[in-house]
Amino acid sequence: MSSSKVSPIFSTAHFASSPLQMARRVFELGPTYYFLELPRFLRQRRQKQIDKIDFRAFTNPFHELLRRSYFELTERHWLDAIYAQLETVDLKISLPQSRFEAVLYQAWISKDVAGDWAEFGCYQGTTSVALALLNRYFGIPRKVYALDTFAGAPKPSLAHDFRQTRNAFSSSNETLARLENAIASLQLEDWITVYPGLFSETLPKINEISLSFAHIDANLYAGTFDATEYCLDALVSRGSIVFDDYNGVGDLGARLAIQYAYQQSGYSVEDIVPLCWCSSTWQKP
Ligand SMILES: C[S@@+](CC[C@H](N)C(=O)[O-])C[C@H]1O[C@@H](n2cnc3c(N)ncnc32)[C@H](O)[C@@H]1O
Repeated sequence: MSSSKVSPIFSTAHFASSPLQMARRVFELGPTYYFLELPRFLRQRRQKQIDKIDFRAFTNPFHELLRRSYFELTERHWLDAIYAQLETVDLKISLPQSRFEAVLYQAWISKDVAGDWAEFGCYQGTTSVALALLNRYFGIPRKVYALDTFAGAPKPSLAHDFRQTRNAFSSSNETLARLENAIASLQLEDWITVYPGLFSETLPKINEISLSFAHIDANLYAGTFDATEYCLDALVSRGSIVFDDYNGVGDLGARLAIQYAYQQSGYSVEDIVPLCWCSSTWQKP
C-alpha cells in the first residue's frame, strides 16, 4: 500500500497505536485468547452445528500483531480528494488509516457493480461519509445507508461477546447532529441517508434494496448476525462485504455471528479472505 500523508482527521483512541501499546495488547490478549476465549468460541460453533473446524481462528493474534495489508491502491487521486473534503468538517476517523483505506479500496473496486452501499455500525459516520464522497467523486448516483444506534453500542451478549464493553464506542444525539451537519456542509444529502436505531429496528426500513457493497463493523454478536444475514440476501452477484472484525482477537462474537449466518444461508466462510489487519472481505458469487 502506498501512503501519501497521515491526515490529522484520524483518531487513535480506539486501537493500540504505539509499538508499546501493541506489545502490551498482544501479551494481554494472547494467553486469554488461546486458553479461554478460543475454546469457548469453538464450543459455541459446535453447539450451533457449524461444520468444519475453524483452523484460521488460531491465526487471529498474528493478524492483530502483523497488521498486514492484502490490497494495493494503484491510484490515490480520489482518496486524497476524499481526505481533503473530510478535513473541512468536524468528523474524525476511528479506524486505523490502513483499515479505513482498505474499506474504501474494496468499495472502489466494486464501484461498477450496480447497487447501493451500506455501513452497519457507522459510529460517528465518517467512513459512510467517505463512501458517499467516493460515489460523488466518480459521479455514480447511488445511496450510502449509514446505520447505527447513535446511542452507544447495545448491551453485549454475555454468552458471545467475551471482551466487548458498551463504553468503547459511546455516542449520543450530539454525534448524530455532528454527522448531519457534516452531511449538510458537504452537500451530501442526496448521497447518504442515516438510519439511527438498532439494526433490528432499522433494517425493515431499507427492505427491498439491492446492495453492491457493505461494511459490517458492529463488533457484537447480535448486530453482526442481523447485518450479515440481511446482506447475504440483499447483496447482488459480484457485490462485496468488508467485515471489519472477522480476524480480530477481541471480536469472536462477531466471527461466530458471521459464520452462523453463512451456514444458515448456504454460503461458505472459506471464501472470506483477509483484507487488512483484522478485516476481511467476501465477494458474492
Ligand atoms: C466499531 S464501531 C463502528 C466504527 C465505524 N465503522 C467507523 O468506521 O468509524 C461499532 C458500532 O456498531 C454499532 N452497533 C453495534 N451493534 C449494533 C446494533 N445491533 N444496531 C445498531 N448499531 C450497532 C455501535 O453503536 C458502534 O457505534
